[in-house]
Amino acid sequence: MNGILIENIKQLVQVRTGVSGEAFSCSTGNEMNRLPCLENAWLFIRDGMIDGFGPMENCPYKEDIPLGTKIIDATGRCVFPSFCDCHTHIVFAGSREKEFSDKNRGLSYRQIAARGGGILNSAALLHKTTEEELFEQSLVRARELIRFGTGAVEIKSGYGLTVEDEIKMLRVIRRIGEETPLTVKATFLGAHAVPESYKGRRSEYVDLIIDQMIPRVAEENLAQYADVFCETGFFTVEDTERIFTAALKHGLRPRVHANQMDFSGGVQAGVNYGAITVDHLEHTGPEEWDALAGSDTLPVLLPGSTFFLEMDYAPAREMIRRGLPVALATNYNPGSCPAGNMQFMMTLACLKMKLTPEEAVNASTLNGAHGMDLSSRLGSITVGKTANVFITVPIPSYEYFAYAFTSPLVETTILNGKITTL
Ligand code: NIG
Repeated sequence: MNGILIENIKQLVQVRTGVSGEAFSCSTGNEMNRLPCLENAWLFIRDGMIDGFGPMENCPYKEDIPLGTKIIDATGRCVFPSFCDCHTHIVFAGSREKEFSDKNRGLSYRQIAARGGGILNSAALLHKTTEEELFEQSLVRARELIRFGTGAVEIKSGYGLTVEDEIKMLRVIRRIGEETPLTVKATFLGAHAVPESYKGRRSEYVDLIIDQMIPRVAEENLAQYADVFCETGFFTVEDTERIFTAALKHGLRPRVHANQMDFSGGVQAGVNYGAITVDHLEHTGPEEWDALAGSDTLPVLLPGSTFFLEMDYAPAREMIRRGLPVALATNYNPGSCPAGNMQFMMTLACLKMKLTPEEAVNASTLNGAHGMDLSSRLGSITVGKTANVFITVPIPSYEYFAYAFTSPLVETTILNGKITTL
């Protein structure tokens, strides 16, 4: 038996019993403001799973501790379920800090992209980078996420833009899942930008995605999802629908980058094709919210890129008021958000989108897990779920997490029931 007993926990955050079923779906609307916590608690982890928890006064392990149990005293500390970051692009080559300067001189994201910068810049660099080197660079970011308290991550391709380079990226994504304790879900994003070699021939590039990339990705079982950047200057609603039709035929569930720069129609396209998530959503109004209401599609908000691109934030309050769920994710990528810290995303969500700290935690844990089809296994402190948790440094309460936004607050991370050493 491999056991860990965490005792004297100041606050055990996001405690959901399996009985009610709420531990296995996502938190929606007004419910998002409810964050069940236990004060002065214990948590027992057995063979990689959450085995039990409760208040210290009823701890069954006070004297009778199973042989081989490691005991951690969490006095003054909070324990959270690990973050579930359901939108990232952490597999990329190099960086794009030069564009950061261009941006500060007044060029917009779209203008930088139109000059061959942006995603095409990353694609050129990735093409020159060996698979091994790409893995090593991406591994550094994966470890960074773990240190920030993340335990599950969705990673997209989309800086390859040729059959072989997209496959190279997806193999690296698979390796991140194999060689780190992170739970990884992979998304094929061939439709991230039209590559230089197809300039002016966007629909031929969409043919390549449909005829060659998607079948190959499916054949090699390299992704669970297919994504499209549905935005003016990138891919149209019609392109998106063609790609989703092909993806669904090959068993890849859609997700979509939608309504980031404009009212693109991406939200409706995502909902119509049963997308698991629609992401960004800075430009949404009643039509988009109505489309989402009653659908199985989860809105994912990415305040880190809104911050970095200095745009207006997604209207999260209105979505929640209308009974929708929302998830938060980092969108860690070299262009619009070179940052993978969910703590900072929660701060932005609270400050700029007016989420409560409780809503921010729900959006970053249970709802993030739901955005990767993982809420049956992750996202809450629930008996029978995988033991992915982190222990903070001493802090006064869980609210402190989004408040002290540059303090490193994660002290110990436990993934799959094992203390991670990085
Ligand atoms: O989600 N919008 C498209 N993709 C990323 C940016 C990628 C990049 O600029 O490299 C995003 O913001």
